[in-house]
Amino acid sequence: MLASRKWALSLTCTVLGTLFVLPNLALAAPDDPDTRAAATEAAMTAEEKTVLTKGIMALPIGPPMPPLPEDAIISGGYVAGIPRLNVPSLRETDAGLGVAYALGLRKDGATALPSAMAMGSTWNPALIRTGGVMIGGEARAKGFNVLLAGGINLVRDPRGGRTFEYFSEDPLLSGILGGAQVAGIQSNNIISTVKHFALNDQETGRQFIDVKISDAAARESDLLAFEIAIERGQPGSVMCSYNKINGQYGCENDYLLNKVLKGDWAYKGFVMSDWGAVHSLAAAMNGLDQQSGSQLDAQVFLGKPLADTAATDPKYAARLSDMNRRILRSIYATGADVSAPRNDIDFATNAAVAEDVAKEGIVLLRNRGGALPLAATAKRIAVIGGYADFGVLSGTGSSQVQGQDGPAIVLPFVNGPFAPMVNQAYHRSSPLQALIARAPNTKFSFDDGRYIASAVAAAKKADVTIIFATQWMTEGYDVADLSLPNGQDALIAAVARANPKTIVVLETGGPVTMPWLNKTAAVVQAWYPGIRGGEAIASVLYGDTNPSGRLPVTFPASVAQLPHPVLPGSDSVEPDFIGKGQPGQTLLVDYDVEGADVGYRWFARKKAKPLFAFGHGLSYTTFARKDLSVSMGKTISARFTVTNTGQRFGMDVAQLYLVENPTGAVQRLAGFEKLSLEQGKSAIINIAVDPRIIGHWDGTKWVVPAGRYKFAIGASADDLKIFSTVYLNE
Ligand code: GLC
Repeated sequence: MLASRKWALSLTCTVLGTLFVLPNLALAAPDDPDTRAAATEAAMTAEEKTVLTKGIMALPIGPPMPPLPEDAIISGGYVAGIPRLNVPSLRETDAGLGVAYALGLRKDGATALPSAMAMGSTWNPALIRTGGVMIGGEARAKGFNVLLAGGINLVRDPRGGRTFEYFSEDPLLSGILGGAQVAGIQSNNIISTVKHFALNDQETGRQFIDVKISDAAARESDLLAFEIAIERGQPGSVMCSYNKINGQYGCENDYLLNKVLKGDWAYKGFVMSDWGAVHSLAAAMNGLDQQSGSQLDAQVFLGKPLADTAATDPKYAARLSDMNRRILRSIYATGADVSAPRNDIDFATNAAVAEDVAKEGIVLLRNRGGALPLAATAKRIAVIGGYADFGVLSGTGSSQVQGQDGPAIVLPFVNGPFAPMVNQAYHRSSPLQALIARAPNTKFSFDDGRYIASAVAAAKKADVTIIFATQWMTEGYDVADLSLPNGQDALIAAVARANPKTIVVLETGGPVTMPWLNKTAAVVQAWYPGIRGGEAIASVLYGDTNPSGRLPVTFPASVAQLPHPVLPGSDSVEPDFIGKGQPGQTLLVDYDVEGADVGYRWFARKKAKPLFAFGHGLSYTTFARKDLSVSMGKTISARFTVTNTGQRFGMDVAQLYLVENPTGAVQRLAGFEKLSLEQGKSAIINIAVDPRIIGHWDGTKWVVPAGRYKFAIGASADDLKIFSTVYLNE
């Protein structure tokens, strides 16, 4: 039917075409974002052309905040609009975990999603999109039309202080989840970013660290995550990063911004800087379109200096027109010019979304002797540590989200203008209260864990002990190592010796080491579980939720296993939130050591055994996999079957890995699918494999060479049991 209709159509056009000239259907419709952008830009006066190219941080910290324009909102950023041309101002708020707290100065609350690590552990793009819809809706309801979200940097170093803001160590997983989050956010007619472009993979010296990495290694790892997220999410803006890459700052990096992003990837949106990340007017020629938080820079380079230069230099004049067209295009493409605030935030519904993400993000790492789910017979339960009587931990920095009543607990960390942004903070969701509500007939005791003797005494009197262990992370500071701080390792070891039925619940920003692991009955990774974290933890511990999280990062057995055992700069840079360091200070990190072999890929290359592998996660049921077949031709696809072989409903993450290509042994996540299965049921999984994952970048293009390829499926990156070899002909 379709063929004949197509034929008929082409015949008609041919006949009509000879009778009179058909209007050029290729002319863009008047509401096409590019057309509108070009028209608005053409109507701009010279003075108007540097309105959109610069913004301020709309927060009274750091250098004095200029007087706030009347339509600005206390928040991360503000860019004036051009009312004469109906161009809206850009009211910008952070970030990927919800509408940021802005030091509590707005006195309005928002719904805190779990950390991006928890989101990464869901491996569920649809759910992450739903989370994006929710936080984008709250941003819009509060009057914002830009959400500075989409943290896509890879967890290249698990000590990175912003690990909690990033999805994973793998480009495919991060790209797919990041793209889903952006799509969800932008469905509210607001602009989302993806950030921080690129290779901003540690906080120590973040404003002067210089990352050395080859083009191919970057393209096959950190850049691939951005490429996939941009393809899938179409973010209106890309936020360039503080750090240098091969000697050039991220926000004036011609290779990254012009060659890769706007050239090879044909990105049509605009590049905004990070806050305080612009060092010269030359940045404009190297691909920067908008200077954010300009009061944090030495000059407002993209203001008068740009206007003056454009008045005499045609290159700058042309670039300035392009800058405006890009910003306008993203405003029109997302509908941010029609984004009107709605005041109907349904916090109860939104909290339920946060709880769903938290539940699916919880990873059951260990479960011996059926310790979990908690049996009804456990009549006396000792709960210890982690401020579990008050709340659940959150990560801090610009991404910090709090409800209207603010944090449950604040533990000061630094003094100075940014202190309110980096104090340790807990969300108002108490795991202890949630456990008590779930099991009213159980006798719960609580010990804050400060003194081992007291905690041990409590453990000895209980049938089961639940210890909450925390590792706090914040933007601006890396963690010194992967141990649990404040003596928690010793506490856990002592309590586990006193009561073999000890369950550890981790609330950490990223991977941690566990010297006490073999003394415990169970370990549950809850990450920073968000505004309903306590309820989600209780639901998993009691089995109302069957845990389905899978690790999005490798848990090393020790930092000695990492490509850089000593965190670069940890022995030479004075830590501080801004990370500007001393004038002229340098810090070089050679990411070519591992290249594109980040995380599990490094462990595979070194044949090292991690504590817990990428993709690992247990369930209260069991799954079996079989019948893997792979076909390679014009397209590459894999097919296999997963069966729920246990006694209850469960969700699994079907994982497909490439383990060999014509260059030899490799390990790369080649595809995945989150699935739900009733007991005894099976699902046939079909995965289309992105050739960029199994091939390599040859300097100008992606190549998938002829030869032998070997794929595998299994429960995690280091538990692959079923293989399929396929030969690709020329
Ligand atoms: C910060 C962060 C960035 C954030 C911006 C605005 O320093 O690096 O992620 O969006 O400034 O707060």
